[in-house]
Amino acid sequence: MEIVVSGIRPTGNLHLGNYFGAIRNFVKMQENNNCFFFIADYHSLTTHPTPADLHGSVKRVLVDYLAAGIDPEKVTLYLQSDIPETAELYLFLNMNAYMGELERCTSFKDKARSQPENINAGLLTYPTLMAADIIIHKATKVPVGKDQEQHLEMTRTFANRFNRLYHVDYFPEPVAYNFGEELVKIPGLDGSTKMGKSEGEGNAIFLSDTPEAIKKKVMKAVTDAGPTEPNQEKPQPILNLFNLMNVVSKPETVAHFEALYNSCQIRYGDLKKQLAQDMIDFTAPFRERIAELSANDAYLRKVVNMGAEKAHESAARTVRDVREIIGFKVF
Ligand code: TRP
Repeated sequence: MEIVVSGIRPTGNLHLGNYFGAIRNFVKMQENNNCFFFIADYHSLTTHPTPADLHGSVKRVLVDYLAAGIDPEKVTLYLQSDIPETAELYLFLNMNAYMGELERCTSFKDKARSQPENINAGLLTYPTLMAADIIIHKATKVPVGKDQEQHLEMTRTFANRFNRLYHVDYFPEPVAYNFGEELVKIPGLDGSTKMGKSEGEGNAIFLSDTPEAIKKKVMKAVTDAGPTEPNQEKPQPILNLFNLMNVVSKPETVAHFEALYNSCQIRYGDLKKQLAQDMIDFTAPFRERIAELSANDAYLRKVVNMGAEKAHESAARTVRDVREIIGFKVF
């Protein structure tokens, strides 16, 4: 059985792009792996959230992940800050992480550029904290996208370095969990090829959106004047609408609008109305669970306590071993 670790940044609500891109695979993965999923609230401090924002965004992602089907009985779902052993392992790893390699990291350079007024040490050592998250459970697989590959490479470097330095074979080398074909890319409503929250208001449909909000966003989606010749190739914004329809609508519905497009009889208003309705239906169960969970702090507390207990067991074992390997001895 693989040991899988993944961190979730507490930034905003989940949208359909997140759901089809990663979360659906997390839900599948939980069936036959030992999964540790945590909310990376230590990491989020690099951007200096206010106390109120911090709790709110942690709660939001917790609720969204539970609503999307992550089962706290099957996985270890926890808050990073509930396991201070992570901070201790991070400290140890930092002793063998070098300025040069940390400064060369692409995500650090990007952050230093985008927040020049706040280039803190937490940003520089983001990769050692992420490595600690992963190797604290001796993970073998990490389900991350392309943007995290360099961090994962650094994790392997730090794990190997520890093994070499202390002449042990303690930490395994974690590799990316590759979904290959299963990754579905969801386009945005603004004509861009990617649904994302940083692409601007109206581009993304969130699992928590109200039916009215969904209708409004879909009706505003970018289109064009319509096809002028039969079987014309679809420009990107139109292709996007069909691709979105492909994931939320019935095949007959898609075929119906394809035929109208190909015979130049399509009315985008009709297509959008149908797409909005199918999105509202698709997201309804998520929306209901999000509303229920958000109002049930007692249950959420139970979930994080259970997660903390399970994560602690695994993390404490590793840190105990690591202390011994490093040479800390009890008198
Ligand atoms: N860096 C990851 C991201 O930006 C979040 C993260 C933190 C993570 N620790 C991790 C992912 C450990 C996987 C494993 O999305």
